Amino acid sequence: MIRENDLTTPALLQCRNLSKTFHLGLRKLEVLRHIDFQIYPGETVLLFGKCGHGKSVLLSLLCGLDQPTTGDINFDGTWFHSCTQNQLAYLRRTQIGIIFQNLNLLPKWTALENVAAGLEDVVSSTKTRYSLAQNLLEEMGMGSRLDHLPIELSMGEQQRVAIARTLIREPKLILADEPTGDLDAVTAGQILHIFHSYLKKTNSTLLVATHGIYPDTKCDRILNLNHGSLSQLVYQNTEPLWKVV
Ligand SMILES: Nc1ncnc2c1ncn2[C@@H]1O[C@H](COP(=O)(O)OP(=O)(O)OP(=O)(O)O)[C@@H](O)[C@H]1O
Ligand SMILES: [Mg+2]
Repeated sequence: MIRENDLTTPALLQCRNLSKTFHLGLRKLEVLRHIDFQIYPGETVLLFGKCGHGKSVLLSLLCGLDQPTTGDINFDGTWFHSCTQNQLAYLRRTQIGIIFQNLNLLPKWTALENVAAGLEDVVSSTKTRYSLAQNLLEEMGMGSRLDHLPIELSMGEQQRVAIARTLIREPKLILADEPTGDLDAVTAGQILHIFHSYLKKTNSTLLVATHGIYPDTKCDRILNLNHGSLSQLVYQNTEPLWKVV
């Protein structure tokens, strides 16, 4: 297991002194305060924090969709402050996959079309895109829902489509924002199982944000976000539980 004190392994993701403040009229809302952490290749890290403590805001900075007020982020050797918006968008298409809390599925596209869209810019043949998307959805137990629109799917099924759309590109880093939010324990367990089989296959790095109770599963570390400050960094040693109440 790679640990933060293993200085020979470069971090995949590094955050230095990240802060984010929103200005609403005369009001100043400090959402993230001086956050420093690193994530190493192959790690699964849980970002735990109560509702409104800044998890989604942090993830939007980590994928370059929003800019920090102070500080900077380094992904695989590249500092975000030196990137153009196009370069950040390219990173998101090719190396950093985000599964949004609100899923962001295209409402007029079927499950298959939504997942195949994840391969645009990556695979030129439409036929291959659709065939890869179908294979992945079938692996996820969604074979009988390929031609359903998001509105015709349950929440758990929509989550699986959103996850498939991100995983199909095989990003180095996956940022998952409440991927099991609002799901029952059995469905949440199935979704986490999908993540774990995928990680085993690809050795990708996963950061999962949650405020909820998770079914028992493994993670390497828990980052605890408390009113915008990273108050704890807990190293899990053996067979840890991904279970926070
Ligand atoms: N664009 C914005 N402008 C102003 N305030 C914002 C903006 N985005 C988020 N906030 C505020 O930042 C705080 C943190 O929001 P965030 O969505 O990161 O919380 P969260 O930890 O993801 O919560 P949840 O567990 O409910 O998803 C909230 O108080 C929210 O109102
Ligand atoms: Mg959130």
